[in-house]
Amino acid sequence: MNDLLKQAYDPERFGVQGHQVIDILQNYLENVAHKDQVYNQVEPEEEYQFWKKIWNKPSGTTYPELIRILLERSIHLHHPHYIGHQVSPAAPLAALGGLLSDFMNNGMGIYEMGGPASVIESIIVEWVSEKVGYGAQRGGFLTSGGSLANLTALLVARTAKRPDDNKPLGILVSAESHYSVDRSVRILDMVPIPVPVNSKLQIDPARIEIVHQEAENRGIRVIGMVGNACTTATGTYDDLHQLADYCTSRDLWFHVDGAHGAAVIFAPKYRHLIDGLERADSVSMDFHKMLMIPALCTALVFKRPLDSYRTYIQDAQYLFENGGEEWFNVAKRSIECTKYMMGVKVFLLRQQFGDALFTDFVTRLYDRGHDFVQLINNFPELELGHEPESNIVCFRFNAADNPDIDLDLLNQNIRKAITHEGNFYIVQTKIRGVQYLRCTIMNPFTSKEDLKVLLTDVVEKGYQIISHTRITSNEL
Ligand SMILES: Cc1ncc(COP(=O)(O)O)c(C=O)c1O
Repeated sequence: MNDLLKQAYDPERFGVQGHQVIDILQNYLENVAHKDQVYNQVEPEEEYQFWKKIWNKPSGTTYPELIRILLERSIHLHHPHYIGHQVSPAAPLAALGGLLSDFMNNGMGIYEMGGPASVIESIIVEWVSEKVGYGAQRGGFLTSGGSLANLTALLVARTAKRPDDNKPLGILVSAESHYSVDRSVRILDMVPIPVPVNSKLQIDPARIEIVHQEAENRGIRVIGMVGNACTTATGTYDDLHQLADYCTSRDLWFHVDGAHGAAVIFAPKYRHLIDGLERADSVSMDFHKMLMIPALCTALVFKRPLDSYRTYIQDAQYLFENGGEEWFNVAKRSIECTKYMMGVKVFLLRQQFGDALFTDFVTRLYDRGHDFVQLINNFPELELGHEPESNIVCFRFNAADNPDIDLDLLNQNIRKAITHEGNFYIVQTKIRGVQYLRCTIMNPFTSKEDLKVLLTDVVEKGYQIISHTRITSNEL
């Protein structure tokens, strides 16, 4: 055999380097919270040149050294000052499950190519379905991300509700829906029909009928609606009972995009936010957002198990009657063919700690969101963008007494200064066209003290930028 091939598959080399990698990661985990910077801002071109140099010298850097460099130069999701986008700091034991999945590489789209992984996935789907309120059933699967789950759910909706006529099909969506919803509707050659939101940023139940009727008047046959649990920008939960009532009365498919917030199925304290979830025809939930699992890992579950077979087949009943539904061959239903063994990570973590770990994680993060609101309210210079229901909190600096100061720009510059410094990582969003700083508390070890330091920093930077702007304008 070619010597290089032998080296690449050499068990001893794997053992030595594998142990080194685990040691590096353990050390990283022990020390990451003490790093000065959670984020090291480097221009893309500079980063490109850095990696290109390494790329151009194969074997020039040792394997452990490469791992160390990668860790150092990347954003640190395990740092308590990471308060940005909705991605979990991966639970280390779940990440080890990822190593196992990568190593085994069972392309488990069909049972024969990964029996244990296929069955494990079904057990997870049963578990999620039960928590959603459907009862323990295997009607669903895991898939690669919330965007793909939305696409798949709407594909099923289109198959299930397609009428005989040739009218264009429409889906009612929230004006606040994640962009993947709008994209999915368009990919499926349907028309997104945005429903305006109320003052709480929920789909406004009073506007649904009007918007629906307008669409029908334009010749569009509306076949479904997508609700949010919760929205991406502000973490707002739609009133699921009201949406379900409407969908039932008009025979519409009701999909709930629970990519972020359906995770409260594990948190009794916050479960009320999704009252009515069990009335949805389909629900998606990302394990890689609020449930500690490395990306990507999304559950898509269906109220009627047979519907999960409708991805490509109109008459799922036919399959069932012929004993052909084959729950264990998931590629028949999911968009993926070769499928990553994503359920293994969930299974391993849940097996070690039970449901209680997921309860603790979600509850802690949502509690911190509420702590954060109280802290913000203690600063007269800060104002909330919305009344937060989750761990997503939007606020802005608003202490400019000069009407010439553009508050949107000021807050953008505050974020720029913060990310440039790298002591915290936060993001930004617009609510009703107004710029806010947006924080999602993703790390259960982010303390109230950390949050206080961030807010103090925001206020200080706000004043600094104002005074700098004044000096600059006086100079002009
Ligand atoms: C509500 C919602 N839906 C869908 C998505 C897309 O999920 P993914 O990034 O896993 O594709 C997101 C991501 O932020 C989201 O917040």
